[in-house]
Amino acid sequence: MTFSDHIQYFKDLFKDRCLTAEPDLQRYGSDETEDLCFPPQLVLKPETTEEVSGIMKYCNQHEIPVTPSGARTGLSGGALPIKGGVLLSMERFHSILEIDEKNHQVTTEPGVITQVLQEAVREKGLFYPPDPASKGSCFIGGNVAENSGGPKAVKYGVTLDYVLNLEVVLPNGEVIWTGANVLKNATGYNLTQLIVGSEGTLAVVTKIVLKLIPHPTQDALLLVPFFCAEQACEAVAAIFRAGITPSGLEFMERDALVWAQEFTQDFTVKVEENHEAHLLIEVDGNDADVIMQECESIVAVLEGFETDEVLFADSTAQKDGLWSLRRKVSEAVKAQSVYKEEDTVVPRYQLPELLRTVKEVGRRYGFQSVCYGHAGDGNLHVNIIRGELSEEFWERGLSNAIREIFIRVHELGGTISGEHGIGIVQRPYMDVVFPETTLELMRSIKKVFDPKGILNPGKIF
Ligand code: LAC
Ligand code: ZN
Repeated sequence: MTFSDHIQYFKDLFKDRCLTAEPDLQRYGSDETEDLCFPPQLVLKPETTEEVSGIMKYCNQHEIPVTPSGARTGLSGGALPIKGGVLLSMERFHSILEIDEKNHQVTTEPGVITQVLQEAVREKGLFYPPDPASKGSCFIGGNVAENSGGPKAVKYGVTLDYVLNLEVVLPNGEVIWTGANVLKNATGYNLTQLIVGSEGTLAVVTKIVLKLIPHPTQDALLLVPFFCAEQACEAVAAIFRAGITPSGLEFMERDALVWAQEFTQDFTVKVEENHEAHLLIEVDGNDADVIMQECESIVAVLEGFETDEVLFADSTAQKDGLWSLRRKVSEAVKAQSVYKEEDTVVPRYQLPELLRTVKEVGRRYGFQSVCYGHAGDGNLHVNIIRGELSEEFWERGLSNAIREIFIRVHELGGTISGEHGIGIVQRPYMDVVFPETTLELMRSIKKVFDPKGILNPGKIF
């Protein structure tokens, strides 16, 4: 059988839900990762678990690569079909199946936009906290695949803390549930948590059961300008040591904020020449007095650092404006230049040393970087700007610099991805953080699920 026969087979079955036109293949062959594009040979848009199962059975039999894909907002190339074959778009799985108010759970399909899910449960007074910057466009299934975090992770945890159970289609087409819809589960190996963060390499997720919590009713938001970026990083651990757990603690270097302002054309915040970095600090809860006390404690901590005047957001519109600036940083950087995104994470207290390292390596290798991220988690997004750098350096020389940063991250007790995943762009660096024995163990797990290596091949290892 030739590949044209396979395409004909799927065209007959899926009709207009099977795409093969060049512009479609280009579109589905790229996500938000750098300027990468790997067009598949066809795009399929299944609508039911049975259809996904049928596709997997067929592709397994004929050894055709299948790459599951969501909203294509990923930053590590996890959903790029680098070996061609079928791009399995889960966009038609867009229903929230049940909001179980009695048990504080929601069962959803993977192609639901994260913010849509959050708003649907919010109407019932419930809260699904993980909120990646792309929450307005990313899919919950992509969040499960990458174990996404976002600003609220610092207090409320990441995606894996909310996934209770998954319906998945295995590479051979069999359908299983990985666990049970319960809050505790000590029943054998935890396959649910193995699938979360496995970047679509072990199974295709078709239903997701998530835990929900009551929605907090009050919050406060502070924007703090620092004259020294390293001091902003030092203040982060100090805030926690004062007994506060903010519901968001974000760091933005000067360029990150200024570029976001240019991108959004929102210049409400006055960034002075000597502001090197800002912390955006949110506290939430149900008691306005407690929140006020926490803000006072934070301000007391900040007195130990050289800061300019703290901005207290005093309206919902102002809070939304500040969060919108923060959420737009990634897009704003992309609008300036092609860039490589590193997703370093260290124990929180080591954040100043991580920032120093990035800048020192940048000076030595001659690149500009813009750093921002979830400082409360020790998670620093390091954006290395292409700018005028030569093709030769960008494609080859830069990887030595990245390796140096990652080696230091590992020495500091950290790792090379906090929330964006490994995909293809961080794959060459896995040896920095794992010995061969660990990598072999991971490869063996992959083989148990997918002996023919058809599901999202070429990712992670
Ligand atoms: C952010 C994305 C890039 O934090 O993770 O904006
Ligand atoms: Zn992030």
